[in-house]
Amino acid sequence: MKTVGKVSSVACAFLTAAASLVFVAKAASAPPQKSAEDIYSHNCAICHGKDGAGKTTQGKRTKAKDVRDTVKVMSEDEMIKVVQKGKGASMDAYGDELKPDQIKAVVEYYRGLAK
Ligand code: HEC
Repeated sequence: MKTVGKVSSVACAFLTAAASLVFVAKAASAPPQKSAEDIYSHNCAICHGKDGAGKTTQGKRTKAKDVRDTVKVMSEDEMIKVVQKGKGASMDAYGDELKPDQIKAVVEYYRGLAK
């Protein structure tokens, strides 16, 4: 009985170590920055709408367009430039606030809403 107790406590320690390793690995692989969806809902959805249609109060006021239309006439690169540098009176420049890879990701997310 004594041996069994010892074995199982060793096994238990091993399992605990394994479990904490899995936990550490998981934490390390988690993305350090916000997802494109987070950025979009936090910064863009107020005007462009969760669905990209631009039919929110702010979207109507600022005359935001429906991504289903703009996706046909603008390339991804052109949209990235708009988000970086802004456009017109209401579309702000996000070049200082967001990193280039975040802008690319959020534009991809935005264009994805048109599908
Ligand atoms: C205050 C409202 C507002 C916010 C917030 C906003 N936009 Fe815009 N956005 C506009 C308006 C209005 C236009 C149209 C500008 C024009 O054509 O003169 C526009 C244009 C664009 C365009 C060019 C294509 C199009 O639909 O005309 C893209 C791409 C875009 N926005 C993406 C974003 C992204 C990504 C964010 C968040 C990081 C964002 N916008 C935040 C109002 C907004």
